[in-house]
Amino acid sequence: MRAALLEASNSPIVIVDDIDIASPGVGEVLIKVLYCGVCHSDFSNVNGTFPIPGPMVLGHEAAGEIAELGPGVVGLKVGDRVVLSPIAACGSCYGCVRGEFGTCVNASSISTGTFVNGSTGLSRHGATIFRGLAVGAFGEYALLDADGVIKVDDDVPLDVACVIGCSVQTGVGAVLNAAKVEEGATVLVMGLGGVGISIVQGARLAGAARIIVSDPNSARRDVAQHFGATDAIDPTNDDVMARVMGITGVGVDYAFDAVGSSALVETGMWATRPGGTTVMVGAAPIDQMAQIPVTLFMVTERKLMGTLLGGCNSKREVPRLLNLWRTGRLDLEGMITARRPLTEVNEAFADMHAGIGLRTVLEIT
Ligand SMILES: NC(=O)c1ccc[n+]([C@@H]2O[C@H](COP(=O)([O-])OP(=O)(O)OC[C@H]3O[C@@H](n4cnc5c(N)ncnc54)[C@H](O)[C@@H]3O)[C@@H](O)[C@H]2O)c1
Ligand SMILES: [Zn+2]
Ligand SMILES: [Zn+2]
Repeated sequence: MRAALLEASNSPIVIVDDIDIASPGVGEVLIKVLYCGVCHSDFSNVNGTFPIPGPMVLGHEAAGEIAELGPGVVGLKVGDRVVLSPIAACGSCYGCVRGEFGTCVNASSISTGTFVNGSTGLSRHGATIFRGLAVGAFGEYALLDADGVIKVDDDVPLDVACVIGCSVQTGVGAVLNAAKVEEGATVLVMGLGGVGISIVQGARLAGAARIIVSDPNSARRDVAQHFGATDAIDPTNDDVMARVMGITGVGVDYAFDAVGSSALVETGMWATRPGGTTVMVGAAPIDQMAQIPVTLFMVTERKLMGTLLGGCNSKREVPRLLNLWRTGRLDLEGMITARRPLTEVNEAFADMHAGIGLRTVLEIT
């Protein structure tokens, strides 16, 4: 099949026509990929923030149609229109039975780029090719565990719905499932890419009273107001903590890092009120350490947590988010600011690096 291949970090992605993809095994599904959003987590593989285990097909925010079912798959059929999920929540492991789907045993595939059994289903001239964030959708076909393949209704445009797969599930889920923001709460969102804007939308859905946003990119600060932001801070000129104190008097109830930086986790800890919660959503380099006086957790009851894919069970979350979209309470179209063919994947990453637009969707075929 044809795919965009990252052979090594810090090298351009190349389009190749000779990737082999296996037939679906037990419990697996082969999907003809139609659209895939470009996420900063892909970019972190490209720029080496997250080293890749070997040549990799990136792309994990995708939608398409089922091409073939492996043995034992129930509830899906060839031709079904589907959104793909980086976490195929199994529903029965230690984390899943406790409702903590970000800790599902299958979530380890996000870092390994393989199925849990070590296979990838992808190869080139006999050598293993890895699947970006357990999906690998910058290619004509993708192989997934059936639990990560979510059927959607016929009225759902797949070129729009694909962004639910990562950024929207992650951002809205971080608010509703992880932090459990309550009506009237005050919220700070640092970073306004696809993930941060989805956090803003989640905070609006939760009924947050103040949604304060911070991003050096002025265009993104402006657009955030359309999605529900009430106050905007330019962190290059303003002291974020001082501005948050000025707006709230005591600090926010919840602060979200949607950039991936230990410095912003520290900012979140100081910008929250005593008892407030800082939520790490951004993916920081693995060797970054935060400097936090640990007594803060005891004396002031501040809290620090992280979330993977917004703690979502995609089988519940994708239909729920589509219902919110259908009734005009979640804006997906407004998040997609560019569409490009797969051949322009490097240009899409250049836009992300330059902060141009908000989210690019690649048209795969
Ligand atoms: N937890 C998860 O499951 C999960 C899922 C998807 C993405 N992520 C991570 O979330 C992060 C955001 O992803 P994205 O696709 O929205 O990225 P993006 O590149 O589209 O947006 C990042 C934004 O952060 C802004 N920024 C940079 N420095 C800042 C600072 N000091 N203060 C405030 N804003 C700053 C940038 O200007 C940009 O607008 C990445 O680290 C990504 O890897 C995590
Ligand atoms: Zn992502
Ligand atoms: Zn599980």
